[in-house]
Amino acid sequence: MKILVTGGAGYIGSHTCIALLEAGHSVIIADNLCNSRRDTIDKIINIAENEVTFLEIDVTEEQAVDVIFNNYKVDGVIHFAGLKAVGESVDIPLTYYYNNIVSTMILAKACQKYGVNRFVFSSSATVYGDNIVPFVETMDLLPTTNPYGETKAMSERILTDIANANPEFSVALLRYFNPVGAHESGLIGEAPNGIPNNLMPYVTKVAKGKLEKLRVFGNDYPTVDGTGVRDYIHVLDLAEGHVAALDNLKEGAHVYNLGTGQGTSVLELVKAFEEANSIKVPYEIVDRRPGDIASCYADASKAKRELGWTAKHDIITMCRDAWSFEKNYED
Ligand code: NAD
Ligand code: WQD
Repeated sequence: MKILVTGGAGYIGSHTCIALLEAGHSVIIADNLCNSRRDTIDKIINIAENEVTFLEIDVTEEQAVDVIFNNYKVDGVIHFAGLKAVGESVDIPLTYYYNNIVSTMILAKACQKYGVNRFVFSSSATVYGDNIVPFVETMDLLPTTNPYGETKAMSERILTDIANANPEFSVALLRYFNPVGAHESGLIGEAPNGIPNNLMPYVTKVAKGKLEKLRVFGNDYPTVDGTGVRDYIHVLDLAEGHVAALDNLKEGAHVYNLGTGQGTSVLELVKAFEEANSIKVPYEIVDRRPGDIASCYADASKAKRELGWTAKHDIITMCRDAWSFEKNYED
């Protein structure tokens, strides 16, 4: 199939493009490079030994999106393009609501106009809010604590309503848990601008000596060692999850958790990183970070049952691959 991958130059999108190419699909990337680099496109081509079409386009611009669908026979869309910094979304909510929701609506509209019925959407476990773990797809969603999370819940809702009204429209709403790691080549990975907000990129910067020490946000949560527990998933497994979702689309909108089902605490992750890479990660315990929850991990059984997909990489491999990328990466 010819798949339009919005945000395909980004962290998860680039790994997914490789997985799609390796599975025999062809790929058109639409990305405005607001949080990614053009040279990632060359790296995708090198790793997958296959061509991709790259269009530097803002997918909130309806005309530009129309031109894509008019010029290429698109069989399906994977919509990664979006802004994702939780803290920033509190400071500039309108930018987040506009970018993340308008892009979803414009792409869905183009799909309707051009008869494209396959749509895969990047959602997030954040839509569960502070629910009881493990998170299951059938749970009622709780409010998230930030505009970013709301854009995901609203986009899910919009796509579900469209699918309900147009039964031939097949949508997979993929709720990612905490993606980490990088391609085993060390060529592509997560490269946030400035000081990272997320744990793994912060840890790799500390390991590299770019940051002095990790601040562990709270050790008084009701968890195994008091630090926050998350379901870290290797980005390569996540990428394969998209291929599986695309191959198993069915009429209507269907939600899938993409996680491992395993919780790992902050201190367990630090220990795994030190073990995997024989490198010390100095840390100190500081106050809780506002908006954080104690535990977040998936019930990953639906994706296994319906998509035939399960995550394969363990936390040691995630830490090893995250570090291989960071070691070679020039800011
Ligand atoms: P990323 O920032 O690396 O990739 C997003 C890409 O979208 C970037 O290349 C950016 O340039 C592009 N983009 C943003 N707005 C655009 C627009 N209007 N038009 C065209 N391109 C645009 O982020 P990522 O980690 O790869 O995340 C991909 C998707 O997955 C996002 O929707 C994100 O919200 C979602 N998600 C990410 C995580 C995570 O922890 N990384 C977790 C859950 C969900
Ligand atoms: C993980 C754990 C922190 C940094 C976020 C978004 C979520 C999704 C994934 C997009 C927590 C602790 C972190 C640090 C720390 N993104 N931590 N020191 O908060 O689970 O999820 O990214 O959809 O929506 O909210 O991920 O990596 O920030 O934190 O102690 O410097 O690490 O408290 O327990 P989070 P994270």
